[in-house]
Order: sequence, then C-alpha cells, then structure tokens
Amino acid sequence: MVSYKELGLVNTREMFAKAIKGGYAIPAFNFNNMEQLQAIIKASAETKSPVILQVSKGARNYANQTLLRYMAQGAVEYAKELGWEHPQICLHLDHGDSFELCKSCVDFGFSSVMIDASSLPYEENIALTKKVVEYAHKYDVTVEAELGVLAGVEDEVSSAVSHYTKPEEVVDFATRTGCDSLAISIGTSHGAYKFTPEQCTRDPKTGRLVPPPLAFDVLDAIMEQLPGFPIVLHGSSSVPQEYVDMINKYGGKLPDAVGIPEEQLRKAAKSAVCKINIDSDSRLAFTAAVRKVFAEKPSEFDPRKYCGPARDLMEELYKHKIINVLGSDGKAE
Ligand code: G3H
Ligand code: 13P
Ligand code: ZN
Repeated sequence: MVSYKELGLVNTREMFAKAIKGGYAIPAFNFNNMEQLQAIIKASAETKSPVILQVSKGARNYANQTLLRYMAQGAVEYAKELGWEHPQICLHLDHGDSFELCKSCVDFGFSSVMIDASSLPYEENIALTKKVVEYAHKYDVTVEAELGVLAGVEDEVSSAVSHYTKPEEVVDFATRTGCDSLAISIGTSHGAYKFTPEQCTRDPKTGRLVPPPLAFDVLDAIMEQLPGFPIVLHGSSSVPQEYVDMINKYGGKLPDAVGIPEEQLRKAAKSAVCKINIDSDSRLAFTAAVRKVFAEKPSEFDPRKYCGPARDLMEELYKHKIINVLGSDGKAE
C-alpha cells in the first residue's frame, strides 16, 4: 500500500471546492508518455495551475502502471525544480471499469479514481460506485462517478449514442453513492470526431463544420438539483483546426474532425463544471508536430528531434487551455 500523500500528490476535494467558488475549472490532461508529462508539468508550473494527471486503463497497459506512478511522483519533484513552490497535482484513474482496477490504483498511490459504470443499469451503477467510494474514502482518495452515457468510445466502455444525464436522477445518485464528483453527458463525446457532418452546419466563409451547442439547459437543471456539487465534463477537446490542417498537410488524413468550441468550454468552466478532460487535443498536437518534422526532414531519425517539437507544441496547447479556456492559472501558488 502506497499513500499518495507520501508522493506529494493531492486529491480533488479542495481543488474542486476552490474552482467552483472561483468560477474556473481544473484541467484534467491524460498522459501516456514522458513528453506529455513534461509538457503538462511545465505548463502547469509556469502558469501555477492546479492539475489532474489522468491515466486510463489503456495508458496503464501501454506504459506500465509502476512506471506511470513513479513518473507522477517524479512530476511533483520536477514541478518544484521548475520553481513551483506548492504544486497541486492529482493522479487520477480515468474511466476505471471495475472495483478491482479502482482498488489497485488506490493501493498504488493514486489520489483520485473514476469508476465509470455509466453503461450499467442505474441500480448497478449505484452499487458499484458505492463500493468504490467506500473503499477509496478509507484512504482519503476522491471518487468521480458518471451518470448518462457519452457517445463514442470511453476506453473499453463504449457507446454509439449519447444519453444525456437525467437531472431528476442526480440527487438520488450522489446521495446514495457518496461520490465526490459527477461526470455528466450534455453532448460532448470522446475523440476527434465529436459530431457527424450531418449534426453540424457549415460556415459558408471557411467551409468548416460548426457543431451544435452543448445542452446547457441540462447542465443548469443538474446544478439546480445539486447546488455546489462538482461536475465533470469528459470529451472536451476542441480539436484545434490548425493541428488538423497541419496533420492533413503533412500526409495525414483527418477529414471533418471537429470538437467542442472553446467558447462553450469557457462558459462551462465558469459554472459548477470544475474538471474538464482533454486528451485528443494533445494527441493532435503531438501528431501534427511529428508529421511536420518527418515531412520536412525525411532523413531525421533521432526521436528527440521530433518528440521535442511535439512536446513544445503540447506545452503551448496546455498553457492556452489553462489561461484562455479554463481560467485555472494562478490558482496554485
Ligand atoms: O476517455 C478516453 C481517454 O481519451 C483515454 O483514451 O483509453 O485511448 O487511453 P485511451
Ligand atoms: P477528448 O477525447 O475530448 O480529449 O476527451 C478526453 C476524456 O474525456 C478523457 O477521459
Ligand atoms: Zn473520458
């Protein structure tokens, strides 16, 4: 058993309370490798933003859970080295799909876990979430649960359609499970194709797809039912068109990739939405930078020469999100 407290990590309780009060959101960035982690920590340290490092089941399988945990521990020390006196870094399991996986993360030094039982029938979602909460809370690890189903692929939890969260269920769910935060479905989805062209309109000037708005009426109804309760938005990449263009220009093929417009995320961040999940945007930045180097310097074969630019572009992206979208800069001196 390793306590996250010994690793210098924090859970989400205080982060979220402050974020709701302050009208901003905490960035939750997924990481799978060293370059992503370096970029996240540099961006957070330079902007003094609290940050949630998210590890999916897929990331654990890809990078090895022991290595990932030591990397997160190393991240705290790296942040201090960068001059961030009191780093507020949470290590979070993204889309945990079983009690065993959540328990293993709690036992292994994670400060927060998500149990995503949203694809199960309501009562089964409650039962599994409650079981995880009871275990995690013994160790002061916070728990995110999900109600409603996002369209797209949630790690190994998949759904073809989106079912908005039902506001009439949230009080019963939060009370009976004891979860610390609730991921909701209001029209976001995972990946770089969040809407089909049929669901969008087209900007006549640019020819770009313009996605439909998120269901803010559902969010408002949820906040009315659960005043002050921390709400989480998954699937919140905005799929920056400059990265999509770069990828397509340098040999990639991502036609009509589209995300959540940043002004909608800005609006959400000012509400009870206090955690915003971003993974795909970082994948796009990484891929765009690597493709550019490969296209322009075909004889390059030192990974530092293409992973380095990828890391720089991701750092720029993370800083932009923190400062211009979530408003979490300067909240963790
Ligand atoms: O919600 C899904 C995250 O983007 C993680 O994706 O399961 O491919 O690591 P992954
Ligand atoms: P995106 O695919 O929009 O980046 O969402 C990531 C996410 O929700 C991770 O849990
Ligand atoms: Zn997610």
